[in-house]
Amino acid sequence: MPGLTLVPTHDHGHDHGHDHGHGHGLSFEPLADNVRQSSRIGAEVHLPASMPLLDVSQLTEADKDVLRQALFENQVVVIRNQRGIDPTLLPQLAKVFDSTASDVHSAGPKAVSDPKNILSAYKAGRIPRAPQVGIIGSGRFKDYEGIADLEVVHLDHTLFHETPLSQHELDQGYTRPYRWHMDTPFYERLPGEVTILHAVQVPELAKQKLKFPNGPDKEIAAGATAFFSGARAFELLDDDEKEFALNTTVTYAPQAYEYIRQCRATEDGLTIPTVGRETPVDEVSEWSWDKVAEHPMVWRNPLDPRPFLQVHGCCVYKLCTRDPASGQVRVVDDVAQVRKIVYGFQRRIWAAENIYAHDWKEGDLVIFHNRGVMHSITGQLAQYQYGEHQRRLLWQCTMTSGKAPEAYRKYAGVNETGFAKI
Ligand SMILES: [Fe+2]
Repeated sequence: MPGLTLVPTHDHGHDHGHDHGHGHGLSFEPLADNVRQSSRIGAEVHLPASMPLLDVSQLTEADKDVLRQALFENQVVVIRNQRGIDPTLLPQLAKVFDSTASDVHSAGPKAVSDPKNILSAYKAGRIPRAPQVGIIGSGRFKDYEGIADLEVVHLDHTLFHETPLSQHELDQGYTRPYRWHMDTPFYERLPGEVTILHAVQVPELAKQKLKFPNGPDKEIAAGATAFFSGARAFELLDDDEKEFALNTTVTYAPQAYEYIRQCRATEDGLTIPTVGRETPVDEVSEWSWDKVAEHPMVWRNPLDPRPFLQVHGCCVYKLCTRDPASGQVRVVDDVAQVRKIVYGFQRRIWAAENIYAHDWKEGDLVIFHNRGVMHSITGQLAQYQYGEHQRRLLWQCTMTSGKAPEAYRKYAGVNETGFAKI
């Protein structure tokens, strides 16, 4: 009967995204359209009014559902003004998104200090009272969290790209993504579902900018963390490429970060354009195939029906593609060819409108969906590391998951164990 339909006037239980300001539970809203553009990334989470600083133990189950929805639909969420939180909050928060998360940082129980591993160059420390939480940034800090002398290094593209920006371009404020990646060692430990970052100190510096092969520059905050969505990357494939990607698993190089330690990347930070500088696999640290990461090329993620193209273009080693009709398997194990195929799929994401660059404010607590985005350092900060107000300090927590990434397409023989079967 027209006119007699009962419409609930205010349904907090379902209208999660829009009840901000009513002060009851946790809520979120996507970032403004001019910030998101085509990236499919970014939301701001508002804590319940009674909770100025996040306290995971006080969140209701409904609050946690909203938080998961915010993250899995938007890939990167920010909670502002969290200065003063305890570092032990980060591992607790990570478990809201992955109940199988171990209490071990995915880079291992201790910071990577082995000089053979490219990741040791960050000099990242760990917080003694929360060893799952790494300390990253730029500059030297005295007596921080019980560490007498802490030095953190902000890596930038000049250390990794084949042809870095010229001094003239650097002087004009240009920067580049250092290396697109997921947070995972691709060996022995599975990638975390999320990574959580907290900005303790943010440098006061002029904006910097990114250059793209097409279109205008993108102005970003100095040291912004850049993200692109695996769902958006998949969307940009044509039908044949989608089919290939859905039928393919990716094997990563044994001890991948040692393998690529001497390699140099393209200017978009997505791949390694030449072959020849790889450390031979019989010269990297001891390894066995059963611990080498192998993942589907396209992942199925929680609470989001979209396929996610999740591949680390610099660390790839081998592709196995299975024809779903015949069951025939085609292996590409020439590293140059593997990189070329993956780069062919990912390079079109490198456009201003597909990139979300988080502009850090002190106190930001950022959760990103490590299995739904690729991310990269940007910025040229090292030259400012000695300035009192130009240093940077972030906390970072990403913990090995108990479950391997799931294939989007469940074809016969697909390997979802997380590790190579050789
Ligand atoms: Fe990272």
